[in-house]
Amino acid sequence: MSFMQIKDLKVHYPIRGGFFNSVVDNVYAVDGISMEFERGKAYGLVGESGCGKSTTGKSIIGLEKISSGDIIYEGENVTNKRRDRRSNYNREIQMIFQDSHSSLNPRKRVAEILQEPIRNFLKLTPAEEDKKISELLAIVGMPEDAKLKYPHEFSGGQKQRLGIARAIATNPKLIIADEPVSALDLSVQAQVLNFMKDIQTEYGLSYLFISHDLGVVKHMCDHISIMYRGRFVESGNKQDIYTNPQHIYTKRLLSAIPNVNPIGREERKRERIEVEKHYQAEHKQYFDENGRVYDLVPVEGSSTHLVAAKAKGGF
Ligand SMILES: Nc1ncnc2c1ncn2[C@@H]1O[C@H](COP(=O)(O)OP(=O)(O)OP(=O)(O)O)[C@@H](O)[C@H]1O
Ligand SMILES: [Mg+2]
Repeated sequence: MSFMQIKDLKVHYPIRGGFFNSVVDNVYAVDGISMEFERGKAYGLVGESGCGKSTTGKSIIGLEKISSGDIIYEGENVTNKRRDRRSNYNREIQMIFQDSHSSLNPRKRVAEILQEPIRNFLKLTPAEEDKKISELLAIVGMPEDAKLKYPHEFSGGQKQRLGIARAIATNPKLIIADEPVSALDLSVQAQVLNFMKDIQTEYGLSYLFISHDLGVVKHMCDHISIMYRGRFVESGNKQDIYTNPQHIYTKRLLSAIPNVNPIGREERKRERIEVEKHYQAEHKQYFDENGRVYDLVPVEGSSTHLVAAKAKGGF
């Protein structure tokens, strides 16, 4: 049974222009996605740069405005309650950010950084707070004297551990981890990922694990959705996606050779435009007449696997 459902989530950013600075168009950053989270399981969200992964994560914790859709948490519609400090939802759903460097306040010492969520959500005495901070540091494998240091005094891997410590400070049920290791060296990536798995088992945590790296997602996740231009092109359990991929875009992601030299944002954007042209010309069955990804339909013979395709027997 899932403890949280996201239904038809949309996040549109208005583009203003013209003489009256009116809304001339929208960026459809997230354009109708649905997800379910189960206790102790990791849900992977994969896709290329700009497909809407971070916007999805941020809108779930309330850092982005939701245009439409619902978030149901333990049976209650919390869509408009996000960021309300009194609600359990905000204590129990936490996020680890894509860029740990800029998400940790450089002017605050580690103790103050970790104190913040504790103060916001837990009612503890100063002595209990201090003990909790020591415990958190021990859990993420950091020394006690880290308390008095500033974020810049730590390596990338250590900063990401501090980000994790902050996220687990309030005993969350779900952690949204947005590219938690992509900025780290490969050897450190494995360490942080394995550590995340360990605390998942120990605390029965669930993850929404966001990554552009299918290898990382395969290692971490039970259920995977492939995102493309704000929509899901395919969704299923790990087995479905890796042994029986359906959508051409999934197949392409699975066959892609990892970039030895990571390419820049502009280059990736150019590549995406090329890919889109190719798909739209050659694979009409995967996009409707407006170039929009179709709604998900069940893959024949499976109860867990969905693919975006023209529904059979439809119009
Ligand atoms: N505040 C904003 N206003 C307008 N457009 C935005 C805003 N934030 C994001 N976007 C656009 O929404 C789309 C999705 O962005 P998002 O950051 O969610 O992508 P992403 O999948 O996380 O990419 P990356 O892998 O590079 O982190 C992009 O086209 C982006 O340019
Ligand atoms: Mg992102």
